[in-house]
Amino acid sequence: MERETCRLPEKRRRRRCIILGVVAGLLLIIVVAVVLGVSLRANTDTLKETFIARCKEFKGSDCEKIWGAFEQAYVGRDPCKVPTEAYDPFIAAADFKPACNRLMFWSKTKDVVHDFTEKKRDCFLTVEDTVLGSVLNGLTWCGKEGSTKTFTTDCPGWRDCENNTVRSFWNRVSAAFADAACGDVTAMLNGDIATPFNPNSIFASIEVKRFDSSRVKSLNVVLVTEKSAVTNCTNASLKDLQKELKPGIQYYCKEVTEAHIQECSSNPEIACGACW
Ligand SMILES: *[C@@H]1O[C@H](CO)[C@@H](O)[C@H](O)[C@H]1NC(C)=O
Ligand SMILES: *[C@@H]1O[C@H](CO)[C@@H](O)[C@H](O)[C@H]1NC(C)=O
Ligand SMILES: *[C@@H]1O[C@H](CO)[C@@H](O)[C@H](O)[C@H]1NC(C)=O
Repeated sequence: MERETCRLPEKRRRRRCIILGVVAGLLLIIVVAVVLGVSLRANTDTLKETFIARCKEFKGSDCEKIWGAFEQAYVGRDPCKVPTEAYDPFIAAADFKPACNRLMFWSKTKDVVHDFTEKKRDCFLTVEDTVLGSVLNGLTWCGKEGSTKTFTTDCPGWRDCENNTVRSFWNRVSAAFADAACGDVTAMLNGDIATPFNPNSIFASIEVKRFDSSRVKSLNVVLVTEKSAVTNCTNASLKDLQKELKPGIQYYCKEVTEAHIQECSSNPEIACGACW
């Protein structure tokens, strides 16, 4: 019926059609705006909710305070101009306590190391298993100049600019984790690549440099290999690693197959550290 009415060339009816069209257009604009607004808000809320929920798994953490300290690092800033120091208040609020003999570092062994620490939770901790790293593991976030919001889309990628929101966070958190190292420290490196100790990695460029010889007794490298090992403990890059360690920190290296690590982590009878 309506369509029939609109086809009639009569003036008054035509005007009514125009008004209806304008109203429909306005309604569409309002609906689109609301949907966009809700989804932007949902992004922010989801990041905060995820952060708080993951944080609460660590007993005794003041998660709202940690979130507040975290947020101030990047909110209202150009996401390519967030220096690592911006996260200092977050590190202070998270208040990660040193865990002697239990810290596990890694480089290019992400899957095997996390599978291992998840199964042997009482033995070793990677930074992603602590309140420092778990709250944002796998997530992306950033702010914008002139906005008080947190965004989770259209943020610069890891390599897009040096001081981006996410990269500065991981650099700062890795430094704090290395500062907390004491006693015997373990690192899982990848024996299936040519350079297991890569100078550009976070492990080489940040963590190793921060091991404090008054607290760290030894660094134990577990060189994880498949059957087709490309390299071994004699590799020159590992000599560079030894040179990076401050005098007084003992260095050990052991080649261990991935199959052996998996077998060991599935066996609750095997004591911590006895997997290699
Ligand atoms: C990144 O921030 C550091 C300070 O943390 C600064 O020295 C450096 O120049 C910055 N890099 C760029 C590309 O802006
Ligand atoms: C380690 O690797 C080098 C060459 O990559 C090889 O010459 C050497 O025999 C290997 N050492 C051991 C103990 O497997
Ligand atoms: C061992 O280390 C050096 C440099 O650190 C690297 O260039 C070399 O390719 C590595 N791997 C092997 C399998 O020799």
